[in-house]
Amino acid sequence: MYCREDSLTLIEMMEDIPTLPESFMRIRTLMNRKEANIKELAEMIRTDQAIAASVLKCANSPHYNAMGHPVGSLPQAIARLGFTETSHIVMAASLLYGFTLPFGMNYIRALWAHAFAVGLICERMAKEHGLDQGEMFTAGLLHDIGKAVIGIRLDLTYFESNMAALHGEELIDAERKAYGLNHAEAGAAILRHWNLPESLQRTVAEHHNPETSFLPAKICALANTEANERFPFGSSLDHIGSTLACDPAQVEPQLPRPAVNKAETPDKRMQLGSEDNFLSKARALLQDTPWVKA
Ligand SMILES: [Fe+2]
Ligand SMILES: [Fe+2]
Repeated sequence: MYCREDSLTLIEMMEDIPTLPESFMRIRTLMNRKEANIKELAEMIRTDQAIAASVLKCANSPHYNAMGHPVGSLPQAIARLGFTETSHIVMAASLLYGFTLPFGMNYIRALWAHAFAVGLICERMAKEHGLDQGEMFTAGLLHDIGKAVIGIRLDLTYFESNMAALHGEELIDAERKAYGLNHAEAGAAILRHWNLPESLQRTVAEHHNPETSFLPAKICALANTEANERFPFGSSLDHIGSTLACDPAQVEPQLPRPAVNKAETPDKRMQLGSEDNFLSKARALLQDTPWVKA
């Protein structure tokens, strides 16, 4: 049992805190730059074999290669996928390959499969509500990273304990009792430690509070609930992808349209997400990539 201060101190100790994979940070930086181009993106991906393989496999998947013309180079693959989708593959793959977690591969896959579903739903809702889609995808992808932080830093039995079977408020209460903070707060603490934007920190901190006045957090909370209802923990990425791809209109939970407080919305630095290509994105991202197959 820890008190909140002890937990925060432990989380922020430098020695063995995991770092967000360098490729994840680099792709974020690149996406935030107005003049970023496909050549630079290819250069960045080239330095990481696992990620490069993910991008190439995705570009050669049946969905993106319906005509049966394989592409063998990264620039060709990126041109086929587009900047946004390539970026998403890089972010998701960099977390899977680069964020070392002390538990089994199946659990890691399940954790990131859930995170990926929430990211896709967040992104979709962001478009509807005029928020930055790339930033909301990132928020969804990282929303439960506090679970990894607790499992790595505070309680190595976290993922094997009764905690693993709890959800929602029950989980939040149990975590507060055991560690003095919950995984949403632990996640916000690590994002602060990594110097990620305050809007992301707040979104992660409040992702279990659908009543929050902070619109990005509200969207993330609803996306999380939606993902949990539709995809029980352990659902495969294939299942998530095909379900979202077949039924995109129902993916987006109903959100009353609150007045958007400009001061509280993230900077609109990225104007990614062109037209709604959610179907192709979900299908292509979730099929034929090495991190999909269990
Ligand atoms: Fe959560
Ligand atoms: Fe979650």
